[in-house]
Amino acid sequence: MHITILGGGGFLGRKLAERLARDGAVGGHPVASLTLFDLAVPPALPAPFPVRCLGGDVTSAAALAEAIPPETNAVVHLAAVVSAAAEADLDLGLKVNVQGTLAVLNACRALPKPPRVIFTSSVASFGGGQHANLADEARQVPGNSYGAQKAIGELLLQDATRRGLMDAISIRLPTVVVRPGRPNKAASSFFSGILREPLLGLETECPVGDDFRVWVCSPRRAVEWFLQMLVMDTLPLGYDRGVNPPGLCVTVGEMLAALEAVGGPAARALVKRVPDPAVEAIVAGWPASFTAERARQLGFSPHESLEQVVRAFVADDLAATKAERGL
Ligand SMILES: NC(=O)c1ccc[n+]([C@@H]2O[C@H](COP(=O)([O-])OP(=O)(O)OC[C@H]3O[C@@H](n4cnc5c(N)ncnc54)[C@H](O)[C@@H]3O)[C@@H](O)[C@H]2O)c1
Repeated sequence: MHITILGGGGFLGRKLAERLARDGAVGGHPVASLTLFDLAVPPALPAPFPVRCLGGDVTSAAALAEAIPPETNAVVHLAAVVSAAAEADLDLGLKVNVQGTLAVLNACRALPKPPRVIFTSSVASFGGGQHANLADEARQVPGNSYGAQKAIGELLLQDATRRGLMDAISIRLPTVVVRPGRPNKAASSFFSGILREPLLGLETECPVGDDFRVWVCSPRRAVEWFLQMLVMDTLPLGYDRGVNPPGLCVTVGEMLAALEAVGGPAARALVKRVPDPAVEAIVAGWPASFTAERARQLGFSPHESLEQVVRAFVADDLAATKAERGL
């Protein structure tokens, strides 16, 4: 398989690339080559197959033509402006999240064989709020520009699939915890922050109360789902190419209990309560739970426990995060 990851220098892109490099194959299909594309040239990746690392803008047809060569079998489109940044800058969100996805569609149209395309949509493309438990048929009524731009991207790729130009699957990712490195511009950044920062020995602020509910998944699970989507039979999807994967509905209190189970009471004591109505207004609009029945029927792997998620962060990312931040 010749695979291109757009946004391949970001959090999930890097995780997926490292997993492909480790396994050398997806579902029994050897990886023939990998292209990592991002605004800045992604760092080199040792792998048992050739890896190209390219810098460029996802809205540029010329850059995409280089990133998605004729032999491409699969494109994982992760390049995006994330939630709070897209809300703060409508023009930037429209450019990257809408025009960028349109440019990806056009680049895929030019290929001799329709590629598998994986698009990362988001829980933020739905409304519903804290008490929602959304069924698979729930309508996407986003309460923020980022979610609207993701929903637009889904429709564009669904129609391109109907037309036989590609074979797309859009996964509405939950909030991914624990994100390594530094806090980012996503409104959901604190959900990772309240686990990561105390495990680094740092104080952090939590803008919402203990009973606040959130739909999450781990980076390990997100990568597993990407691998499944790269090779799954898409016939059962029909025209409906959006999937709500089986994440975890957890409360902030449960997250702090998992933190304490792994890092002890001293870690939990580093989480300070500082209400932030602007952040809460964004994240409280996202649905806190999904039934995710269809994804289970399609074979999307079930989620591990919250404590396992925290332990996986310690095993996979704590040392690198400490090194990156000079701790
Ligand atoms: N991490 C989450 O909690 C989460 C939740 C739901 C959906 N998603 C979606 O999953 C995808 C990956 O998320 P992530 O957490 O790895 O994000 P990330 O910000 O770490 O990675 C996205 C990458 O896209 C790149 N990018 C931005 N604008 C670009 C442009 N104009 N041209 C080329 N590259 C550009 C960024 O440089 C970045 O490396 C995104 O599409 C995001 O919207 C993530």
